[in-house]
Parts: sequence; C-alpha cells; structure tokens
Amino acid sequence: AQLLVLHGPNLDLLGTREPDVYGRTTLADIDADLAARASAAGHALQSFQSNAEHLLIERIHAARNDGTAFILFNPAAFTHTSVALRDALAAVAIPFIEIHLSNPHTREPFRQHSYFSDKAVGVVCGFGADSYRYALDAALARLAA
Ligand code: DQA
Repeated sequence: AQLLVLHGPNLDLLGTREPDVYGRTTLADIDADLAARASAAGHALQSFQSNAEHLLIERIHAARNDGTAFILFNPAAFTHTSVALRDALAAVAIPFIEIHLSNPHTREPFRQHSYFSDKAVGVVCGFGADSYRYALDAALARLAA
C-alpha cells in the first residue's frame, strides 16, 4: 500500500531546532528510515513537509486520488490551532496516526489540546524520532490486518 508522512511547520529544522526537546536526528534521516522500513515490508512511503498550512491541506486533498491508504502526521504547532487541517483529514477520510517527538502533555498548557487526537486511529508522542517508527509499525500492522 501507499503511505504518506506529513510534517508540519519548523520540522524542517529538526537536528538543530531545540535539540533538548526534539533530539538531533534530522528530518531527512527520519524520512529515509521510514521509507526503508516501509519498503522492506512491501509498501511505498512518501514524505512531505511544509511550513504553510494551505500546502499541507492541498497535499491531504491530493492523497485522496494518489492511492494513499494511511497517513502518519506530525502537525507540529498546527496541532493546537488548525481546524482547517482537521477538516481536510475528515474530508478525505483516510485513516491517520498523530505523531509528536515530544510529549505535549508535559509541556505548556496550550500544547495540551489537539485538533486531531479525537479523529486519529491513535497518537504516538514522547519518544523523539522513534515516535515516527512506532507509528509506522502500528500503521503497517493495520494494513496487514
Ligand atoms: C511537536 C509538538 C508541538 O507542540 C510543537 O509545536 C512542534 C512539534 C512535536 O513533535 O513534539 O512543533 O508536534
């Protein structure tokens, strides 16, 4: 199957961005690792990062027509602000897992609400770059079921 990984704003800076919070692994490393794991399991995985809300929305719309069976999504700061991205995921009705490197529940109060969690298949947070890997494992298990 086709999987899509979406990364929201500022995640292009992973590796150098607040390494105490987000670790030192770069986004390119994360994407390469996920693609290799998906491929080893007989699936295909594409990644897309944007700092622009409308480009993430348009990528989600495109997923409706490109065969995407599952989405892995770190909405980053849009987690806490974006009704529009929530609506986009509802519109395409593709199952998704919400991912965070940090554990937002241990952080500022404004990070403790997500516009996505109640629509997600599940949420993986707090494991640094490994959060993406655990989410991929969960998605692959779903696809195999
Ligand atoms: C994040 C958590 C968000 O609160 C924050 O705005 C981010 C990254 C994470 O992966 O831990 O940019 O989604």
